[in-house]
Amino acid sequence: MFRFDSVTFLDILRVPSLMIGGGRVTSLLGASGSGKTTILRMLNKMVSPTAGEILYHDRPLREIDSVLHRREVCMLSQTPVMFEGNVRDNLLAGLLFRKAPLPEDTVLSETLDRVHLNKPLSEPVDKLSGGEKQRLALGRVLLLDAPVYLLDEPSSSLDENTAVAVIEMIASCVREKGKTLVLVTHSAAVAEKYSDDIVEIRNKVAERRSV
Ligand SMILES: Nc1ncnc2c1ncn2[C@@H]1O[C@H](COP(=O)(O)OP(=O)(O)O)[C@@H](O)[C@H]1O
Ligand SMILES: [Mg+2]
Repeated sequence: MFRFDSVTFLDILRVPSLMIGGGRVTSLLGASGSGKTTILRMLNKMVSPTAGEILYHDRPLREIDSVLHRREVCMLSQTPVMFEGNVRDNLLAGLLFRKAPLPEDTVLSETLDRVHLNKPLSEPVDKLSGGEKQRLALGRVLLLDAPVYLLDEPSSSLDENTAVAVIEMIASCVREKGKTLVLVTHSAAVAEKYSDDIVEIRNKVAERRSV
């Protein structure tokens, strides 16, 4: 699905040769500051490689329209973006932006259950904790039903039990629907348990390692 060919980003990171398979769960492991977010941002066309090429379905990413690309390849950043209003407004924000049909409240409530967020749709978002906002932002992107998800440490501000439940839900949702997931995590245990493939950044080089 994605192929890196002799990619470098500034003097920060090298990805000599790497395939990220469609319909698979790939975890991206590496120390803080090693370039995990940078890789997701390159896959999402938020930044371009300094040298080398990234292909998506055999087409160079630089030739693909960024907006159309991001409709298919949906990224959830490490720090969730919140919009003014309540939980419902925030769940619907992505669909509104796309001018897509809006689901009924029952669907929105099911989404909150899936991300383990036990709050009413009418709750103002400024009352939510960091971890609750993170799960709300995850619910928002799941509603977009994209074929490819790039999730940047989606469980970083959750307690351990909630983190496990949320990662399990994401992995099973992706597998059931044959979607593709690239998951950034700093936990080797999470990567080994839930992924088909693991990419690890060490000494500024990203390479596949055994699961
Ligand atoms: N556009 C940029 N220009 C210069 N340095 C950057 C840029 N983007 C990221 N960096 C630097 O690259 C390194 C890796 O960042 P990042 O990808 O966020 O790491 P991680 O997500 O693994 O913690 C950091 O030192 C960061 O400051
Ligand atoms: Mg990061």
